[in-house]
Amino acid sequence: MAGLEIVHYGNPILRKKCEPVKDTLTIESIIDDMFDSMYEAEGIGLAANQVGLDMNLFIIDVTHTEEAEDTHIFINGTIVATDGDDKVFQEGCLSMPGIALDVIRPEKVTLKYQGIDGEWHEKEFEGLLGRAIQHEMDHLNGIFIIDRVGEVEKIKYQTELKEMEKNSNKRINSKSEKRFVL
Ligand code: NI
Repeated sequence: MAGLEIVHYGNPILRKKCEPVKDTLTIESIIDDMFDSMYEAEGIGLAANQVGLDMNLFIIDVTHTEEAEDTHIFINGTIVATDGDDKVFQEGCLSMPGIALDVIRPEKVTLKYQGIDGEWHEKEFEGLLGRAIQHEMDHLNGIFIIDRVGEVEKIKYQTELKEMEKNSNKRINSKSEKRFVL
């Protein structure tokens, strides 16, 4: 396993809007390493800046559900539209170990993105995949789940967040049993 180390809340790269990928064909090995990191951490989604890379790139694997038979790679994604009702769903984050928050997001999202072959797509997603896409797009724009909840929730995790900021370049072991971590 050549997994890349996952960085945590407090690391400045997680607050940055990530740069576009210029040549999709040169990033194949990075993507392989990202999948290794994601599986090792038992996540279902991972954005490039979560492994310290300033690139508009994220991966998702929801093959444990009925929604997808294959893994997903999204390059140079932008959210074109959202649709449907707002839904509450508990999300975890590989860059915030041990924290799970009820996040409100629209049911459907239309994403414009490139595949590994460089081809552009524009497609509407919903379900767990649509949810995960919105979480990862937030990462690529420097936004955490903690930014999507109210003050009361934020205060609840103040100590953990401060601790993460202090140790943001060290690995924190998490024994969380969250099924939705990305
Ligand atoms: Ni995350």
